[in-house]
Amino acid sequence: MARHLVTSALPYINGIKHLGNLVGSMLPADVYARYMRARGHEVLFICATDEHGTPAELAAAEAGTTVAEFCARAHDTQKQIYDGFGLSFDYFGRTSSPQNAEITQHFARKLHEHGFLEERSARQVYSVADGRFLPDRYVVGTCPHCAYERARGDQCENCTRLLDPTDLVDPRSAISGTTDLEVRETAHLYFRQSALQNEIQAWIDAVAGEWPHLTVSIARKWLAEGLHDRAVTRDLDWGVPVPADVWPELAAQGKVFYVWFDAPLGYLAATKEWSDADPRRADWKSWWFDAEDVRYTEFMGKDNVPFHSVMFPAMQLGVREPWKMVDYIKSFNWLNYYGGKFSTSQHRGVFTDDALELLPADYWRYFMIANAPESDDVSFTWELFAGQVNKDLADVLGNFVNRVLTFIAKRFGDALPAGAAPGDAERELGGRLVELFERYENHLDRIELRKATAVLRAMWSLGNEYIDDKAPWTQLKTDPEAAALTLRTAANIIYLFAQISEPLIPTTARTLRQLWLAPEQDVSGICWPQASDVAALTWLDAGTRFTVPPVLFAKIPEDDVDRWRERFGAEDEIR
Ligand code: MF3
Ligand code: ZN
Repeated sequence: MARHLVTSALPYINGIKHLGNLVGSMLPADVYARYMRARGHEVLFICATDEHGTPAELAAAEAGTTVAEFCARAHDTQKQIYDGFGLSFDYFGRTSSPQNAEITQHFARKLHEHGFLEERSARQVYSVADGRFLPDRYVVGTCPHCAYERARGDQCENCTRLLDPTDLVDPRSAISGTTDLEVRETAHLYFRQSALQNEIQAWIDAVAGEWPHLTVSIARKWLAEGLHDRAVTRDLDWGVPVPADVWPELAAQGKVFYVWFDAPLGYLAATKEWSDADPRRADWKSWWFDAEDVRYTEFMGKDNVPFHSVMFPAMQLGVREPWKMVDYIKSFNWLNYYGGKFSTSQHRGVFTDDALELLPADYWRYFMIANAPESDDVSFTWELFAGQVNKDLADVLGNFVNRVLTFIAKRFGDALPAGAAPGDAERELGGRLVELFERYENHLDRIELRKATAVLRAMWSLGNEYIDDKAPWTQLKTDPEAAALTLRTAANIIYLFAQISEPLIPTTARTLRQLWLAPEQDVSGICWPQASDVAALTWLDAGTRFTVPPVLFAKIPEDDVDRWRERFGAEDEIR
């Protein structure tokens, strides 16, 4: 059986992430990792903060602290938030780790050895007013391809093309706004991607057959334009130093690697951090080197696809060592906010720290996975969010659980009644549930998250339908045995939901699993059901004791929607 390596794009260290960041990488990766674990697979789920580059330096300067201190603090803040969302990383590392420096330098040495890293003199934008070379993304101007006016020097966020700052029309400094820029000569290392074009093309042809349309179209567009050699060093203080044994002069000038050169290697390095943290863990290399039994799945927003489908694979191919390459890239469009962009700089939209302060994680997880921007951009609105929470979570799932258990407790006490043997209605219900269950598994296997959620919701609805049809409150008057059967079956449906809802709403699923256990017993790992057991619905026997949980999901009142719209800058207001 394959082992499964799952990574989420590494969130940049600078600033608290918004819901769009979360739903575009970390959250779907978590749902998949949880699902695969539940199915009994060996899973390693790795993430880290992406810490190098100028934004970190600038943010540290603004906060009046050293960049190392800034990153350490920001890492802990982000980690806490992701814990709050129930993201089940096996390890959440940092690209500023010594492990990453070592691996990045190794890759650089090997690429050099095989002729793919080359020193060239480069013309770079120097800002006279700012007194420094400007990193690519701090030169802004008009995109030469699509005429977007706020394109950054590294990439146009409108058409996703990668740029060189000197490509921009009307360039200016993003730091000070000055247009007093000049181009100066300095030496840099270039990654000769162009020499790997054919190999990358062949690799994509071989592996991308089943990839999502979005991923493949971006990768192919990029390849069709031809791979350009890219400078992979920068004049910064903060980053992985160029190794002095190979490039003494560049090292002496204090050059460091470009953040996008060391960031993807952060996946490997965070795995090494994981393995170094506990001697009982497997060696990190068993997951990454000569690891033919590993299936590797990556999750990311669409702007990250070029780096993961071309640049990182080119680095892995160029070192001429058998590093594990990605098997499947799941990518996402944007989650927007009332039709506009979430904006970190303008504080427009919902940020992850605020979200957790308003409501428990499962409300957000459910809504975001149900609306994951898989085939198109999607807009978050408070109205949509409240509507779906109130209906799916409160009315359908929550109400089903609460009314069934409350009713049993009232009429039969705190243990499940025996009642009649299952009849036609139960067999029919079992059959419909199995059909949906198999579709649900199928969608999760293929990481089709919206479809998976729709099927799960349909299963939740079946529970309500069954209870409404059988009407145990009426049955009780005429045929108590039949009522008892209905309620015991309904309890088993809850048990089913406890198992299969876990990847989406793990906290609630845990509550639902704990219902059937004495308080001192603790729920251990989740056990994914077999289709035959779904059909039978007989996990819980008569006499099983249970507790009635408090209301699982509170409805969001209209007042809250109004307040939140105002507070989080719905429509054109800015918080
Ligand atoms: N930090 C990048 C972003 O936020 C993603 C880096 S993914 C990595 O877009 F693999 F390169 F680390
Ligand atoms: Zn453009």
